[in-house]
Amino acid sequence: MEIRIKKIEPEKMKLKPLDESKLGFGKIFTDHMFTAKYHVDRGWHDAVIEPYRALSLDPTSMCLHYGQEIFEGMKAYRGKNDAIFLFRPDENIKRMNVSAERMCMAGIDAAMFMDALKKLILLEKDWIPRGIGTSLYIRPTMIATEKALGVHPANEYLFFIVVGPVGAYYPEGFNPTKMYVSEEYVRSVRGGTGNCKAAGNYAASLYASRIANEMGYTQVLWLDAIEMKYVEEVGTSNVFFVIGDELITPPLGGTILPGVTRDSVIQLARSWGIPVNERPISIDDVLSAQADGSLKEAFASGTAAIVSPIGQFFYKGKASVINGGKVGALTEKLYNEILQIQYGEKEDPFGWRVKVTD
Ligand code: COI
Repeated sequence: MEIRIKKIEPEKMKLKPLDESKLGFGKIFTDHMFTAKYHVDRGWHDAVIEPYRALSLDPTSMCLHYGQEIFEGMKAYRGKNDAIFLFRPDENIKRMNVSAERMCMAGIDAAMFMDALKKLILLEKDWIPRGIGTSLYIRPTMIATEKALGVHPANEYLFFIVVGPVGAYYPEGFNPTKMYVSEEYVRSVRGGTGNCKAAGNYAASLYASRIANEMGYTQVLWLDAIEMKYVEEVGTSNVFFVIGDELITPPLGGTILPGVTRDSVIQLARSWGIPVNERPISIDDVLSAQADGSLKEAFASGTAAIVSPIGQFFYKGKASVINGGKVGALTEKLYNEILQIQYGEKEDPFGWRVKVTD
């Protein structure tokens, strides 16, 4: 499908941030956005890149009532000689369609999605910051726009993509974060929507996150909803433990998000000869490994968080420090390797990088 491009008038362009060390995450957006509409009788239509604008929604738009809203998180990186790269964008496109199917929303045409990404990124290329660890964050989103109050899958959707320059997701940067293990609240349950990037999953996580933040913790480490025993994920990222010589991460059983960075970590570690096990691991096993010294490192992985060291868990009134609160060697190696691949500074043996060109 043809994407129309309607450029902003030059005098309306926003000022670009000057200090790349103060970008933060998700606060600054560029001059343009992509939108496309879907109607069950017409399919996708009206694909346009246009000046960034507020959306106008009828108060009965179904996304506002029954939560048909899904999204993705991706990044564009500026490498040497101003080359621009995406990292495994096909995986995000696939996952968005898995989320769409689970939430009974319209499937997005993969070619239109990729075309929109490339055209929008090229138009906004001057917004892509230069420093390692900074990037242009990409937020593809789909919402149900049909005006109706009956509970049923909507017949109309809006797909939009907004982008903006970002630095580190956590205020701690690449310093170890502190995780609060929730004993009371759960993020998702078997048969639910935990493996989708559905807005409701994040809404449901806020209450426990607020408790964690009030106690001085960065994030919640979620346990499984049935036994409140097995580690699941860290809400905005997947989680890994280095115990002895093994790298362990909870398996994808439908309750956790199948992270693109998670999969990249697994493939990289295996290629380095590290035994990686996707297996259920209880919080008690994690903490007894911490107590006997075999838990060497813990880290979170995600598009926004990249690879982010964990320095402490708080569970049942007790704080357990990991690796003396320092960044572990494997965590650092994975962080550097993934960044170097993303920025085009290293060979890309897995073919993960996609160069964005005219
Ligand atoms: C991402 O890692 O891109 C995410 O979407 C996580 C988040 C900031 C909600």
